[in-house]
Amino acid sequence: MGRRVALALGALLAGCSRPAPPEDARTLYELRCAPCHGSAGKGDGPASSGLHPAPRDLSDPAWQASVDDAYLKKLIVNGGLGVGLSRQMPGSPDLAQRPGSLAGLVGYVRQLRRPGP
Ligand code: HEC
Repeated sequence: MGRRVALALGALLAGCSRPAPPEDARTLYELRCAPCHGSAGKGDGPASSGLHPAPRDLSDPAWQASVDDAYLKKLIVNGGLGVGLSRQMPGSPDLAQRPGSLAGLVGYVRQLRRPGP
């Protein structure tokens, strides 16, 4: 029985189109980003209602293609002000000392991209 459950779980995981991101990145995103950006990056987190400008849809393929990883790192570390956006997007300066976690978070933002051109 246990083996059957394991097989079913394996089949389920194999059916996912994207590799699972590192847990650390998911945790970081849920703690620091999802309150505003929402778990799927749609800009609909519980703390998003008062934000002007509202955060864009991070799953938008056109936007994803328009930014490089260096920009995302700068934005995440320095916040909106660091890249000429709103100060309402807070920075995570501590991640400058944790390059692995920062890269993981950028990877997490990347996998929010929905399929499309
Ligand atoms: C307090 C709310 C808040 C939190 C928390 C927050 N953001 Fe944002 N974010 C914003 C707002 C507001 C904008 C829109 C800024 C603008 O357009 O001027 C934004 C914009 C962005 C953008 C789009 C930048 C662009 O070029 O349009 C990305 C990517 C982003 N945030 C990533 C993150 C990540 C990753 C985290 C977690 C480390 C995070 N944000 C945490 C509010 C937040």
